[in-house]
Amino acid sequence: MTIDIQTAARAGDVLAAADSQIAAALAREEARQRGTLEMIASENFTSAAVLEVVGSVLTNKYAEGYPGKRYYGGCEFIDEIETLAIERARALFGAEHANVQPHSGAQANMGVYMGVIKPGDTVMGMKLDQGGHLTHGSNVNFSGKLYRFVSYGVERERETIDYEQMAALAREHRPKVIVVGATAYPRVIDFPHARAIADEVGALLMADMAHIAGLVAAGVHPTPVGHAQLITSSTHKTLRGPRGGLILCDAAYARSIDRGVFPGAQGGPLMHVVAGKAVAFLEAATPEFSAYARQIVENAQALAETLLDAGLRIVSGGTDNHLLLVDVTPKGLNGQQAEDALARCGIIVNKNAIPYDTLPPAVASGIRIGTPALTSRGLGAQELRRVGVLIAEVLDAPDDAAVQRRASEAVQALCAAYPAPGVPAA
Ligand SMILES: Cc1ncc(COP(=O)(O)O)c(C=O)c1O
Repeated sequence: MTIDIQTAARAGDVLAAADSQIAAALAREEARQRGTLEMIASENFTSAAVLEVVGSVLTNKYAEGYPGKRYYGGCEFIDEIETLAIERARALFGAEHANVQPHSGAQANMGVYMGVIKPGDTVMGMKLDQGGHLTHGSNVNFSGKLYRFVSYGVERERETIDYEQMAALAREHRPKVIVVGATAYPRVIDFPHARAIADEVGALLMADMAHIAGLVAAGVHPTPVGHAQLITSSTHKTLRGPRGGLILCDAAYARSIDRGVFPGAQGGPLMHVVAGKAVAFLEAATPEFSAYARQIVENAQALAETLLDAGLRIVSGGTDNHLLLVDVTPKGLNGQQAEDALARCGIIVNKNAIPYDTLPPAVASGIRIGTPALTSRGLGAQELRRVGVLIAEVLDAPDDAAVQRRASEAVQALCAAYPAPGVPAA
C-alpha cells in the first residue's frame, strides 16, 4: 500500500486548525514515541496501513449484528470487511470460528463469560499478583464481581504455573471454565495439560492469549487451538494490529460466543478497527512476520542473559516469550524506583509485582520488560544486549547524573538509527 504524503500532511493541518491543543499533544506524543525505547511488554508499533484504515471513514458506520444479519442498512461494504477479517483470523490461527468484534481484550473476555456462563458460576483463573489479568477474577473488575473466581498461581521455587495446584483446586471447586493466559508470565503455557485438567472436572478451557498472539500466529509459542475450546486475545500486543479484541472458538460454541459479544457485552462494532484487524491478520500471515516473532523471543533471551550477567534476578530464571520479569531488589531498588530511573533516560518499562512479592503493587519488587516494540524498530540481539547493559548501568547508579547522561545519549542514538514504524518523522 502506498502512502499519500500530501493527504497525510493535509490531515495534520486539518486537525491543527480544528483543535490546536489536541494537535499539539499528538505532536508531543509522536516525538515521545520517536525518541524513547518502548519496552512495555504489551505495546507495539502497528503498521502505517493499519493506522490509515483505523483513521478512515469506516468510523462513521453503525453495523450492529453480523455479516448478512445487521440491524442497520448500508452495510454491504462493512460485511465485506468483517467477512475478510473473520476468514483471515480463522486461517491465521487455524480456528473453526472467529469473532472480530470485541472492542478490546477485556471485552473479548466479557463476551466469552456472557456467552458460556451465568453470574454466580465458578471460574478458575491465574492470580493477578502472579501474572493473571484483571478480567481473570480481580474483585475490582466485573469478572470478580459477577462470577465466583478461584485462583491458581505459580510454584514458589520454580516460579512457573503450578498445574498440580490448578488440578487440586479444579477438583475441589468444579469450575465451569478454567482460564489460562497471563499478562506477566515469561514461560510457555502448557495448554494440553490445562485441557486435561479441565476435561477431568467437566470444565471448558479458555485460553487468553492476549500477550502471545503474535508468537502463536508465527508458531513461536505452542497454539491453544485444538486444546482450548475458547480463545481470547487482544490484537495490539505481539500481534501488532490496532487496539482491539478477538475471540476464536470451536464451531460448537460459535453461536453462544457471537451472542455473548453482541448483544451480550457490546453494541455496534468499531468497523474502522475491525478493518485494521483484517489488515493486521494479513500482515501476520507473512514470512516476514514469522521472522519478526522469532526475533522478539531471541531479543528477549539476549536481554535476559545480559541482565542476569549484571547481577539482576530474572523471575523463573529466563524467558520463553517476549517478556521478562526482573526482580530489582538485588540492586537495592523497588519497581517504582527502577521504572522512574529508566524513564529519566528514555527507557520505558513498567513496575510489576513478582510472585510472592512482599511489597505492595503500587511500588512492587520488579519491572516487566518486553521486546515486541523494539523488535518492530529493527533492533536485533546485539542491540538488545547493548540495551541490557544500559539498563544495568542505570539500575546500579540510579542517581548518578553522568551515568544517566551517557545512557540518554545512547538511547537517542539507537532511536535515530532505528526509526519507529508508522510514526511520522520529525
Ligand atoms: C492476558 C490479558 N488479557 C486481557 C487483557 C486486556 O486487554 P485490553 O487492554 O485490550 O482490554 C490484557 C491486557 O493487558 C492481558 O494482558
